[in-house]
Amino acid sequence: MQQTGLCDIHCHILPGVDDGSRNMEESLRMLQMEYNDGVRCIMLTPHFRYQMFEPPLEKVKQAFAELQTQAKERWPDLTLRLGSEIHKSLDISECLRKGERLTLGGTNHVLLEFSGSDPKSLIFERALDLLNHGYKPIIAHIERYSNIRDDFDGMEELKDMGAFIQVNADTISGKDGFFVKRYARKLMKRDLIDFVGTDAHRSDSRTPGLAKAYDQAAKANGNDYARWLFIQNPSFFFEE
Ligand SMILES: [Fe+2]
Repeated sequence: MQQTGLCDIHCHILPGVDDGSRNMEESLRMLQMEYNDGVRCIMLTPHFRYQMFEPPLEKVKQAFAELQTQAKERWPDLTLRLGSEIHKSLDISECLRKGERLTLGGTNHVLLEFSGSDPKSLIFERALDLLNHGYKPIIAHIERYSNIRDDFDGMEELKDMGAFIQVNADTISGKDGFFVKRYARKLMKRDLIDFVGTDAHRSDSRTPGLAKAYDQAAKANGNDYARWLFIQNPSFFFEE
């Protein structure tokens, strides 16, 4: 039987603000896919990355308000929150303090993105800067960063510092291939993953797929673990 109540903490379903959903219709199709997957809580995390994605905050908030209105009519039991996926610039703490960037749903958690070949030292440095300013960094899709993805001790160190680790649903479900799936299994066995996100971008490619990832997590570490990872741990983001 399919599990309901899953939480997606990373996606690009907000329409027209980054390289994710192109319009409201596409966003609603993507929300329907999430809903069919048993997802009931979604954090919308449009990119903020200098010279690539710099949507004005007002535009992001307006798009969120419109999407929320539409979603409420269709799925009254679906909770949406607004956040952002922020690329590793030096000024994140300052911009957050000034209210120019978004944390996840108004909490002090920040979804922090790096480039694929960034050195491990940079990942630590930027995570530490956020921690020193009272924020809790969540390293977005850590499996993409070649200099830390196989360094499990390094990940432990990051977590000991107070950072959190997010992995994409497609990595866990094995949509990205057998070796990726086996890799995700290792991360789960070592209990390194704190949060899972779909990182969904479109309704026809990079689509949401949280239910399959949930099933794989349950297979790897049991039902209690899957419920913890996909429901209990992220639930505080969505409380009233
Ligand atoms: Fe993303």
